[in-house]
Amino acid sequence: MGYIGLGNRGDQVHDAFLEHGDQVTAAVCDLRDDYMELAIKKSRSTPKKYKEYKQLLANKEIDAVVIATPDHWHAPMFINACNAGKDVYVEKPLSLTVAEGRHMVDTAERTKRVVQVGTNRRSWKTYHEMIDFVHAGGIGKISEGKAFSIRNEWPNGLGAPAEGAPPDEWQWDHWLGPAPKVPYSSNRMFYNFRWFYNYSGGQLTNFGVHYMDIIRWAMGKDSPRAVAAIGGKFGGIKDNREIPDTMEVVWDYGDSMATFSQYNANGAPGDLRGSEIQLRGTKGTIYIRNSSWEVAPEEVSDTITGYDHGEGYGNPLERKARNTKPKKKLIEARVEKGSGGGDTFSHARNFLDCVKSRGKCNADILTGHLSTSTTLIGNIAYKTRNLLEWDGHAERFTNNAAANQWLSYKYRPEYKEG
Ligand SMILES: NC(=O)c1ccc[n+]([C@@H]2O[C@H](COP(=O)([O-])OP(=O)(O)OC[C@H]3O[C@@H](n4cnc5c(N)ncnc54)[C@H](O)[C@@H]3O)[C@@H](O)[C@H]2O)c1
Repeated sequence: MGYIGLGNRGDQVHDAFLEHGDQVTAAVCDLRDDYMELAIKKSRSTPKKYKEYKQLLANKEIDAVVIATPDHWHAPMFINACNAGKDVYVEKPLSLTVAEGRHMVDTAERTKRVVQVGTNRRSWKTYHEMIDFVHAGGIGKISEGKAFSIRNEWPNGLGAPAEGAPPDEWQWDHWLGPAPKVPYSSNRMFYNFRWFYNYSGGQLTNFGVHYMDIIRWAMGKDSPRAVAAIGGKFGGIKDNREIPDTMEVVWDYGDSMATFSQYNANGAPGDLRGSEIQLRGTKGTIYIRNSSWEVAPEEVSDTITGYDHGEGYGNPLERKARNTKPKKKLIEARVEKGSGGGDTFSHARNFLDCVKSRGKCNADILTGHLSTSTTLIGNIAYKTRNLLEWDGHAERFTNNAAANQWLSYKYRPEYKEG
């Protein structure tokens, strides 16, 4: 296998693949020599070292690649990898734009490549158990899925390092790749690129894509029919981030809805359980945090709620009636503490199995594209400050021409795929 991007996540994914005896690290590629050296040291083999990923893709001995570069690099690298005949494990979010994601889906299908998108919760046993329970009607009809991404980054956040000449012009240019050429800032590079829109969709596509992927899976949804978002830089955090520190996104699925709440100027938990995801059903709620999930039953009464034949709510003579109606739990409370970690390990295992069987991975390309698009259109709603109606088949907004312009962007020509 070849590894492109060996930073924070690339190193973790490489570690996960190394746990499996049936892969050999044949090549590594990164803009940093020290990251490549660390990977080589861990590899238990003698990988070739490449500074240019296209040279790695030209190596015929490599069957499959991992792409763990910043989001704006995923599409061009992925498309070139498929065209070079490599199977691909590509990190989430799948793409920086919806148009790129669709192009990636089409390319993977045309070239018949096995693809795993890095939404690793899809390979976590505990999530499969939770989803089976939900799909068997465990919490009744889900009316809303909610997700939270919370960390107080006030007062200094990332800081605001001065722009200036890059320490290494070649490295900076290759980092920017297809994105516009802008003055160097260390905040736009390693890890911190997440807070800047040319390279990422912010925390909505960083954490949000994991959560919306699970909510879509649980609710059995492909695409929403509308999306709206409000947010801003409200906390006075002293840094040069572009993404909001506070944001609420709402998706309309016709017979249910979903929300994503991002709080980076306050760290209070989103609910009493401190969950990352909630699934609210008629019979109960599931609170999910990492590998653990908890079912909290609803208490419901068969009796009609409201003013019914002179009884119940609203009748001043029957105040007591509302408290004496029999209520019962229809499901049992349940707490599942799945084993922590291991999800990336299982995700890597699933990819290796599918490379051999030519089967579909747990987080196949279309699944990754639909989950990524869900979050990307949330950012477009935030930027355009509109309720946007979404045609999931055409992958276009139907009520706002300006919003459609955000579905793609113009690459710097020298870094286009091909
Ligand atoms: N699945 C998960 O849970 C998870 C967790 C963290 C990050 N990620 C994803 O992984 C990706 C990388 O994030 P990160 O935190 O590792 O960032 P990072 O900055 O630590 O690492 C990115 C690496 O890509 C390399 N790179 C950039 N341009 C390159 C190029 N042209 N050729 C070769 N290498 C290049 C950089 O040198 C760097 O080492 C992101 O898309 C992120 O969303 C996924």
